Amino acid sequence: MSKHLFPTYKRWDLTFDSAHGSEITTTDGRKFIDLMSGIGTVNMGHNHPEIVEAVEKQLHRGWHGSNFFQYDQQEQVAALLADASGLDRVFFANSGTEANEAAIKLARKATGREEIVSFTQSFHGRTYGSMAATGQAKIHEGYAPLPAGFTYAPYNDAEQAEKKITSDTAAVIVETIQGEGGVVPGEQAFLDKVNEVANARGALLIIDEVQTGIGRTGEPFSYQKYGLRPDIVTVAKGLGNGFPVAAMMGREDLQSYFGPGSHGTTLGGNPLAMAAVQATLNVLNTPGLLSEVEDKSKHVFQHLQKQCEASDIVTEVRGAGLMIGIACEQPVAPILTKMQEKGVVALPAGEKVIRLLPPLTISEERLTQGLDIVTEAIKETAKTKA
Ligand SMILES: Cc1ncc(COP(=O)(O)O)c(C=O)c1O
Repeated sequence: MSKHLFPTYKRWDLTFDSAHGSEITTTDGRKFIDLMSGIGTVNMGHNHPEIVEAVEKQLHRGWHGSNFFQYDQQEQVAALLADASGLDRVFFANSGTEANEAAIKLARKATGREEIVSFTQSFHGRTYGSMAATGQAKIHEGYAPLPAGFTYAPYNDAEQAEKKITSDTAAVIVETIQGEGGVVPGEQAFLDKVNEVANARGALLIIDEVQTGIGRTGEPFSYQKYGLRPDIVTVAKGLGNGFPVAAMMGREDLQSYFGPGSHGTTLGGNPLAMAAVQATLNVLNTPGLLSEVEDKSKHVFQHLQKQCEASDIVTEVRGAGLMIGIACEQPVAPILTKMQEKGVVALPAGEKVIRLLPPLTISEERLTQGLDIVTEAIKETAKTKA
């Protein structure tokens, strides 16, 4: 038990020592197969040599000058992101919640409207704007008053979304796959409708790719798989392969609303973070990397569906790429503990979903080893229950 830290996190009985590739070592010398990537951040694996080298090089050149300076590194990374997304303007922040704050502020300013529509069970962050956009009462608890102007529609309900998005709506913010909300994939028809209605009513479409971005679902960004046309995209987590950094990308014509003094953050886009992002995006662009993610994904879904559909506690295996949810009939905490005892770390998503977010670079062999342990733990927990 910590004496000095606020107990904001429900921590496991494991102390992080070091990590390499898709293996984490704890201070007692135990080694774990990593099926969580630091909550979907270390997508290219821990200590990826090219990323370490890039950060190390910058570390000795200077960490931070401030955004009063021109930064070549920011320009270069923004160009890479613009190329990858088709959105020409980038604002750099330090975390997912900050990228979403920037998006919400920009949308209100650009449209002159107040209302932000989001979806039930969504997660967009913990600062006031992003928290208000988060459609989960438990995240809001105790923090009233929340900022005004936020409203929620049920996820995957095209009809309700069409009713909520009106000529007063500044923006709709949506995840293509709800991560924290239980690894719930958006249905194509729902997301298409949201895109269409937002466009028709002059509301901006903000896609939150904080968890789904940077190759996680087999494309650089998940909205590309769905063929959506967002006005703004936010990304964090995997952007710097675990280095704290985030970006909000927006359409070229939005730039006039974010002029000097309108928004900012002291450390956003610092050269150290930019070195991490540039190297991460280079790795993401490695020929074959994303098709390997798709191959591994097929392997995972085949493996889990076969094993788990025979189980009496698994109700569904869902997700895309290497973002996988195993929905169970019972709370998954005991299954995750059992997995840890057997040498695998993975995540919950809500109370009853096991969430797997392995590094995209994990070998098929280690992935299979990990999955075998996941299915064993599920079976054994089901037995204990019976
Ligand atoms: C979809 C989504 N948006 C935003 C956030 C918030 O990101 P951060 O924790 O970096 O502020 C998260 C974090 O889990 C997320 O999954």
